[in-house]
Amino acid sequence: MNKRWILTAALMGAFSVLSVASPAAAPQAADRSKVILTPKPGPEPNINGPKVFGVRPGRPFLYRIPCTGERPISFAVKGLPGGLAVDAASGIITGTAPAAAGRYPMTFAARNDKGSAEREFVLVVGDTLALTPPMGWNDWYIHYEGITEKHMREAAETMIASGMADYGYMYVNIDDCWMKKKGETPYRDGKGVILPNAKFPDIKGMVDFIHGKGLRAGLYTSPGPWTCAGYVGSQGYEELDASTFAAWGFDFLKYDWCSYGDTAAGEDREKAMKPYKLMGDILKKQSRDIVYNLCQYGMSNVWEWGGSVGGNCWRTTGDLGNEASDTLPGFLKIGLSNAGHFAQAKPGQWNDPDYILIGWVGNTGEQRPTPLTGDEQYTYMSMWCLMAAPLIFSGDMSKLDDFTLNILCNNEVIEIDQDALGKQGRIIRKTPDEMVMVKELEDGSRAVGLFNLGVTPKDVSISFRDLGFSGKAGVRDLWRQKNLGNFRDTYAARVNPRGVILVRVTK
Ligand code: GAL
Repeated sequence: MNKRWILTAALMGAFSVLSVASPAAAPQAADRSKVILTPKPGPEPNINGPKVFGVRPGRPFLYRIPCTGERPISFAVKGLPGGLAVDAASGIITGTAPAAAGRYPMTFAARNDKGSAEREFVLVVGDTLALTPPMGWNDWYIHYEGITEKHMREAAETMIASGMADYGYMYVNIDDCWMKKKGETPYRDGKGVILPNAKFPDIKGMVDFIHGKGLRAGLYTSPGPWTCAGYVGSQGYEELDASTFAAWGFDFLKYDWCSYGDTAAGEDREKAMKPYKLMGDILKKQSRDIVYNLCQYGMSNVWEWGGSVGGNCWRTTGDLGNEASDTLPGFLKIGLSNAGHFAQAKPGQWNDPDYILIGWVGNTGEQRPTPLTGDEQYTYMSMWCLMAAPLIFSGDMSKLDDFTLNILCNNEVIEIDQDALGKQGRIIRKTPDEMVMVKELEDGSRAVGLFNLGVTPKDVSISFRDLGFSGKAGVRDLWRQKNLGNFRDTYAARVNPRGVILVRVTK
């Protein structure tokens, strides 16, 4: 592969000038596709989030029950294993995971003066984390080198205040640039412990703050001596850095190839695997669960071996924000490339087509609303969910508008992504103008995306035979959260240019 990407990533890491994803100019006030389709949640409690969650035995556990509805809500958990406790007012579960491997089914309950809700949840104690794709926020595509501890704390606050956490978003992840930059010595203390830069005066306090909200914290480093933006990497300090990250309380690590390319060329699979296996083995030994995100742009077909080195998700392509547009918006090109690896995704091991770049995005000085049309944004989120991709928003948390939140926070759409069967959808039909993607779901139903890749409205159809169904089936529009009725043999819809109709088809 792909020297170009390695180079682009290494060079662009520092200077990524955001060329987000679309050939279109800035959105017009009259963008009629920017219609909010997702109904607002009701005042009564409705519990969202994954139905299964993996932890290692005896590790610290933290989980905030995602639930919409008017607060105050009172939470309870039936069947909560010993060692764990739920805070009734916040719905935050804390404690230590059971020491014995196994499945621990429980029922979440939520009540307010408008009603009540219950939801089944299984804690799976074993060796597999990220049984469903991780959900959260990463700062890269808005803060770049400008990231500060304050931004991270504010992002955690906004994840709660905006309601995102009520839909299952939980990781608040720092990307590159939290450590010292080349030349800014000392990089490490006398014992070799890595030193955050002046913008992170209290990194442990920051993680505690994020945890206090019931959320999880992530960070970034490189197996090379330097990160892509020219900050200190972990080469030669892998054990110490991992134990430092664990001691600070981090729950997620993005491990970005960057200058490791000077140590080993990427074409040789063994060389490409080596640093990831080293860190994967080290992470497993830590005193807390750390979800492991491989970032090496798809070299050596990482989807074929990412799981074997302990990876929970791996970037399959170069940076989405650097993907130049020609005939298709960058996210569509990246998404189509990622779609080819559907066979490799499974619980705990996900293909990662990069972040969700919507809302306000861009480097300091050139931040702007995404140039994507509303329809393109529906397409983006639908594809990511059908592909069981990590749902990591990377726009500005301080400028979330209603349309962006409508894209990010539709519980029925997210449920497709988080489905416990853990299958990645596959493309069953594609022409230059249209695409149909189908994802098998745990309950036997199918999520189907009818995509119009062209620039004029188009009818796109699905034959139930292609879903393994015959005769009649029920069709529900997931963006509108509306049953469309029962259909025989086939369903067709008129789809906006570059838009999607996302349905769930139930036999
Ligand atoms: C790139 C990576 C981006 C971002 C950047 C930081 O290599 O793909 O997602 O992490 O480095 O410098």
